[in-house]
Amino acid sequence: MSKIIIAVDGYSSCGKSTTAKGVAAHLGYAYIDTGAMYRAVTLYFHTHHITLTNPKEISKALEGIKIDFRRNPETGRNETYLNGLNVEDEIRKLYIANWVSEVSAVSEVRRAMVAQQQRMGKAKGVVMDGRDIGTVVFPEAELKVFMTADPQIRAQRRQIELLEKGEMLDLEDILKNIHKRDLIDTTRADSPLRQADDATLVDTSFMTLDEQIELLTNLADEKI
Ligand code: C5P
Repeated sequence: MSKIIIAVDGYSSCGKSTTAKGVAAHLGYAYIDTGAMYRAVTLYFHTHHITLTNPKEISKALEGIKIDFRRNPETGRNETYLNGLNVEDEIRKLYIANWVSEVSAVSEVRRAMVAQQQRMGKAKGVVMDGRDIGTVVFPEAELKVFMTADPQIRAQRRQIELLEKGEMLDLEDILKNIHKRDLIDTTRADSPLRQADDATLVDTSFMTLDEQIELLTNLADEKI
């Protein structure tokens, strides 16, 4: 059976990562959450007071950043490590979400992350989710899916997710963050979020996670 690359792109809180994880588990593939990588860079820049106006400072900072994913043996979930420290919970917080799109729009940041993502996926047998996987990171991916959903529904899903992690936030604040990120992600000059011409569009507004996983798994089975 041949191994393929599955690129899952789309807006935030459409169920991309949970669906991608489910599909990866079903196929025995690796799952790579590229949003977590941009979030980890954002956390590093925040902690080290890196401003986004000085490309030299940014390039130097990027040299000091090592991101990897490790499986937590207790929960079985993949967690994000920044320079050897588990930052999985920290990078999900709203203060990171509020800055991550600005950081991700910086070309130096994108170049470093894309190079690492290409290394991580080159052996194939991978499900990678993000904003530019099917257009920039792996334009030759055998399966590309572009996920979208109604912003109000996305905000509600995000609120529940954050609540489960102990962060209680106003729906309005979450919706504001979603609109802000959509705007920056779709209008940035470098690799804006857009549907690849050969991607399958999936609107998850009224789909359950199981339905999303089933749909993507069926699409993958047709390609393998
Ligand atoms: O997927 P997630 O919501 O965690 O991504 C956080 C942010 O990282 C996105 O809003 C976007 O600004 C950025 N991102 C990106 N390219 C990717 C993945 C994420 O620019 N491939």
